[in-house]
Amino acid sequence: MKLIFWLALIVGFLAVAWRLFDYFYFSNQSYVSSEIRFEPTNVIHPILEKPPMGWNSWNNVRCGPEMNEIVMRQMIDLLVESGMRDVGYRYFNLDDCWQIGRDENGVILADPERFPSGIKALADYAHERGLKFGLYTSGGRLTCMSRPGSYRFEELDAQTYAEWGVDYIKIDWCGIEYLDTYTQYRIWRDAIDKTNRQMILSIAIANIDNQVDKQAWTWGRELVGIWRTAIDLNPFWEDVLRVMDRNSLYAEYSGRGSWNDADMLQVGNGELTLTENKTHFGMWAMMASPLIAGNDLRNMSGEIKEILTHDEIIAINQDKLGMQARLIKEEDGRQVYVKVLSTQGERAVALLNRTDEPQEISVTAEDLGLHSLIKVRNVWERSDLGIRWQTFSQAVQPHEALILRVHGRDKVNLLHYPVMINQLRSGYLLDQEPKTEEGIISFRREGNKRMIVADIFSDVRYNSAANCQVFTTEFFVDPEWADPRAEIRFKVYGDGDLLYRSDFMTIDSALKRVSININKVRVLNLQTSPANSNYNIAQIGTWLNSRVECSN
Ligand code: GLA
Repeated sequence: MKLIFWLALIVGFLAVAWRLFDYFYFSNQSYVSSEIRFEPTNVIHPILEKPPMGWNSWNNVRCGPEMNEIVMRQMIDLLVESGMRDVGYRYFNLDDCWQIGRDENGVILADPERFPSGIKALADYAHERGLKFGLYTSGGRLTCMSRPGSYRFEELDAQTYAEWGVDYIKIDWCGIEYLDTYTQYRIWRDAIDKTNRQMILSIAIANIDNQVDKQAWTWGRELVGIWRTAIDLNPFWEDVLRVMDRNSLYAEYSGRGSWNDADMLQVGNGELTLTENKTHFGMWAMMASPLIAGNDLRNMSGEIKEILTHDEIIAINQDKLGMQARLIKEEDGRQVYVKVLSTQGERAVALLNRTDEPQEISVTAEDLGLHSLIKVRNVWERSDLGIRWQTFSQAVQPHEALILRVHGRDKVNLLHYPVMINQLRSGYLLDQEPKTEEGIISFRREGNKRMIVADIFSDVRYNSAANCQVFTTEFFVDPEWADPRAEIRFKVYGDGDLLYRSDFMTIDSALKRVSININKVRVLNLQTSPANSNYNIAQIGTWLNSRVECSN
């Protein structure tokens, strides 16, 4: 009897001690996002506070005969009936092939055979059912399916869409020759603002891999939008990896108010197996990508519906800190991604097996910037896996991404986490490795002149990881290289915020020198762009003796 009494007392004491420890160790406080610099400095539209979620007609219906108002109304009904609307899929987006021409005043006309009641009627139908309505166009003269595009009709189209009750405009980049993307999308931003209707600006540069002036991830935030990072995603495994890899390259630019768009979901389409569908969805959630489904809702299987409506996976995507997952470890097709979540010490972690064999994949508390004691939860299974000391390790099936929620106590200052590859140190940029470079003709040294010679549109990116304070550089248009007609502007971005933009310079302009504060900046971009997109003349700009002062 006595023994039982003492045992009960000890157990009771341990339970209370654990509760107290649990309470103090695993914080439920939120991060102050401005302190860890995931906060963009410009406006955050409430409609882009979190990655948008919805359904779009393209991935399944395309330009086929079902692209019509009867089928589209069915899809709207099904978005509601399936429960998708209520877990967050708010946008019903009509893609290409709704338009046919323009009237005598230039007003865009819907195809009367496919949409006899008009687009406004369809938008109303969606709104009456608690949905928002999105519409597609192209920045060029034609859309990708050769329907009329919006070039030179931007204001009129924005106005028309606003009158129809559009909430989201996907603007493609087809039917275009020699226009510069930033300038065109700027026109759209201004046109949208003029309507006084809040509409999401979706910068959908379809052929982005082949576009010279494509760095929407650097300037997209300035225009308050979402932007594609890769050519269209197709519904098979290798393509999921292709788009994921590309989108991950730009993780640092995405954040509350403006997002990297890894393209619309192919969950439930094509050749993806059940595991691959889960991996695709889980990774898009980890990457804080918009979740825009594109499957046929009329014959969605129970399994696909479970994937698309998984509340805990969606919660990772919609987490209010708005940080995109970063790749932190990689070895022989085994990868670890981490998405810092808004609760202090909480991380979403993906252990991804890209190979065709089962693999043991592990992650340590250290990798996650946490102290040794961690709590681990399997998110898809909705089950707690318990407490671990230092390491978590599990067999992961081929093509599977095991998604975990790990909770511990921060060991590092998140401003510097995760540690980046090729981190900048004090000194000249020319002596260090950039993370990516596009449109750079050469990195050259002549005596004590260190030059980055840049073509008509260029972008060179360095990881400063919030360790550097000042960036100084000179720049000019070198008469030895550039055409007398060349007019080039030099720009510096920090984490997608424009830190400096020069006037247009010619070979006659005097060399300029600037010194820029890059405190807290994780990613530094140097860009050049021309006044006119004349590719036939040498429009070459030179960065001279660029250097950083850092504290590491
Ligand atoms: C491009 C886009 C797709 C779709 C089609 C429509 O390919 O990337 O998402 O909008 O155009 O033609």
